[in-house]
Amino acid sequence: MTRKKAETPRELALTDFNTPHKPRPHENAFVRPHHIFSPEDRRKAAIKAGWNVFQFPSEMLEGGDLLSDSGTSALTLDQLSALIQGDEAYGSNRGYFKLVKAFENTFGISSDTHGIFFFHQGRAAEHALYSHLGKNLIVPSNGFFDTTRANAEANGIQAVDMQDTSDTLFGGNINLKKLEQLLKTRAASVPLVLLTVTNNTGGGLPVSMENIKGAHALCKQYKTSLFFDACRFAENAWFIHNHEKPYTKKSIPAIVHEMFALCDGFTISLKKDGLANMGGALAIKKNAPLLKLIPNLLEVIADHQILTEGHPTYGGMSGRDIMSIVEGLKYVTTEQYLSGRIKLVQDFGAYLSSLGVPVLKPIGGHAVYIDIDRFFKGTAMRREDFGGISLTALLLLKGVRLCELGAFAFGTYDAETKKETFPKKNFVRAAVPRNKYERDDLYYVADCIKGLYEERRHIPKAIPTYGKDKTLRHFKARFRLGW
Ligand code: F0G
Repeated sequence: MTRKKAETPRELALTDFNTPHKPRPHENAFVRPHHIFSPEDRRKAAIKAGWNVFQFPSEMLEGGDLLSDSGTSALTLDQLSALIQGDEAYGSNRGYFKLVKAFENTFGISSDTHGIFFFHQGRAAEHALYSHLGKNLIVPSNGFFDTTRANAEANGIQAVDMQDTSDTLFGGNINLKKLEQLLKTRAASVPLVLLTVTNNTGGGLPVSMENIKGAHALCKQYKTSLFFDACRFAENAWFIHNHEKPYTKKSIPAIVHEMFALCDGFTISLKKDGLANMGGALAIKKNAPLLKLIPNLLEVIADHQILTEGHPTYGGMSGRDIMSIVEGLKYVTTEQYLSGRIKLVQDFGAYLSSLGVPVLKPIGGHAVYIDIDRFFKGTAMRREDFGGISLTALLLLKGVRLCELGAFAFGTYDAETKKETFPKKNFVRAAVPRNKYERDDLYYVADCIKGLYEERRHIPKAIPTYGKDKTLRHFKARFRLGW
């Protein structure tokens, strides 16, 4: 009797294309895969994970893990050696004083003029800030990151996006006209204006110094505070240095100082341009208009920090984390590092685009954004079929992980009307971890995306089987792929 040949699962058949660039097992200082996994191993794991990329085991990603550029940096030699000097004392460890100094040097601020608070990551700093601003307020921004928006909204604050798309290179700018209109009528309800530098949800594009100055002037006129979400401040400064005329002769560290002299405070996740695997901070100028509204805010935040993170001199971080940030901040504003990093990201985007895959242009500093509406144009895929999720799901089988930031991540489901509401943009993001991948690694990822682009008419829908009605649903949902 002849044995019946097992049929190749449809998902695997769809991803059985050749790629000119080959994946190599990735190593960083801490993770080394123990096995080489087969596409079938990954398929089983993906089904177990409900095709949710966040639930997929990272050790199976030999092809490239571009889920996030956050906390995923490979540490430099200087950072690795600084780890050993981490002082794990409960209070006032030696790294704390170095970190305060590093903040002063990097951002041009001073602990005399600013309250500086440390946290274990960015959203913990945001939580501390937004929890104590009060209710029925509005915070306008060029673009809230998902958890930043969630932190504002969880505290009854209306988070309003006002990205200005008229400047192509500095496409992360805030629309100053809209901002002025809002401030004219509602300034008393606006405790602060938030500029995200660079604008992650808006395609990772930078904000120009001119736009920062414009926002600063409006905030001054209407007596409110300008804050930065400063996660990618160094990349933003690199764009200003390279593309904004009056600044081409000014050094990147000096541009950073000028940027931060224009804001009244900032939150930062040091997992991005801190080049660290953990860490966050909140700084507030002691004469910020915000402190006139809430005079005891600095004390309230210090209490919040003690309740949730530990003593202010370690703020939820180990002494080792702190030391790696101190070194990271020294390196991150160097021209040599930034040019190499941003050119790598842009080269990856240009290669992907040369393969015909529709990507958002210009390409920003930390990620390449695939335009999913254009990717599936001319196919039967509708927004409610969550094609971006299907793309990320199938790429797992090639050992590649990207992140959907579009119809599913930013859409919402109304259980009463049984209808989905979609955001303006529909992207899948390929975020490049710092100091970790080489050009050929990223070209392999691009080749895999191209393979699926050619098969786009056959890509199945992603049908949520759990969690479409939840908040922050992209982290929790499960799917099945439906042909
Ligand atoms: N703000 C921005 C602009 C971010 O991109 C992030 C994180 C945060 C705040 C929160 O920082 O993760 O340290 O709590 N972004 C990551 C990303 C997760 O993949 O873009 P966190």
